[in-house]
Amino acid sequence: MSLHNLGRFPAYRPRRLRGSPALRRLVRETRLSVEQFVLPLFVRAGRKLRQPISSMPGVFQLSPDELVKEATKAFQAGVPAVLIFGIPDKKDEKASGAYAKNGIVQQAVRLLKSELPELLVITDVCLCEYMSHGHCGVVHRDDHGVCIENDASLKLLARAAVSHAEAGADLLAPSDMMDGRVRAIREALDGAGFTNTPIMSYAAKFASAFYGPFREAAESTPKFGDRRSYQMDPANAEEALREVALDLQEGADIVMVKPALAYLDIVRRVKDEFACPTAAYSVSGEYSMIKAAAAKGWLDEKAATLESLLSLRRAGADIIITYAAVDVAGWLREG
Ligand code: PBG
Repeated sequence: MSLHNLGRFPAYRPRRLRGSPALRRLVRETRLSVEQFVLPLFVRAGRKLRQPISSMPGVFQLSPDELVKEATKAFQAGVPAVLIFGIPDKKDEKASGAYAKNGIVQQAVRLLKSELPELLVITDVCLCEYMSHGHCGVVHRDDHGVCIENDASLKLLARAAVSHAEAGADLLAPSDMMDGRVRAIREALDGAGFTNTPIMSYAAKFASAFYGPFREAAESTPKFGDRRSYQMDPANAEEALREVALDLQEGADIVMVKPALAYLDIVRRVKDEFACPTAAYSVSGEYSMIKAAAAKGWLDEKAATLESLLSLRRAGADIIITYAAVDVAGWLREG
């Protein structure tokens, strides 16, 4: 069979189009644009606090004043959105800090919206950072062991979501993976008058080794057990599609796949199947891998970062959540 008989593909000589840099750019299929980036930030109580996270060079736990500085830098670099994670002073078994009127995230959101009204403020809605045991839901202990109480967790998640909306959050991102949480949050928001506050659900969230550095950053490592009863098995793609379908039915406006690089097939299948706004979260471990290799001189940080994030665009992601957002904005400006 000759190349001419390939049907969809006519006789095609790519070399001609790869000739000059300008021509190469002209026929380029996908691009990275800073307008699609979301920068995750960690906030905790204090003043002038920039506590480095050892496993994530360049990422800090920030006090609210420093958070505003960091968000301003990102906004000025063209990054339109931040995703806020809170580290409370006190944790308990009801995750009270997650829905306290004056909780750390609620304070941070109010401050960001007053200082930078045009910055999109997204909040992570979860309980793990606020639970003394570090799980994403309410834990029930009995003679048979421990289990996560799905429906009791939904009530707390819904309260947290409404409190974030009251503080002024533009978009809510539930990351807990309890069943039915998108509907519970949607109903609670509507009931409280926040009918126009959208939801970006962590729809296909896998139980991943790549969250390791984040758990240092958010101080949310489970004290016992693991998250495999509520996060997905990395072996399952069909299940990911069902999770996404459910979240959309329950009212999610944007769906997310997480992690990103090891799950590019899921990003592509979600985009093809549902044709809805799709986010890919390039998680802490993906960031730290490149940072660590670059520090040793084994990888070119800029090239490796841009190539990884570009693969998310190729896979179909509309929104890219990355700790490298500000660096990438700078690199893209340099061209
Ligand atoms: C909370 C949450 C996690 C991440 C985002 N939200 C951690 C987890 O599920 O253990 C991970 C983000 C990252 O690794 O960058 N449920």
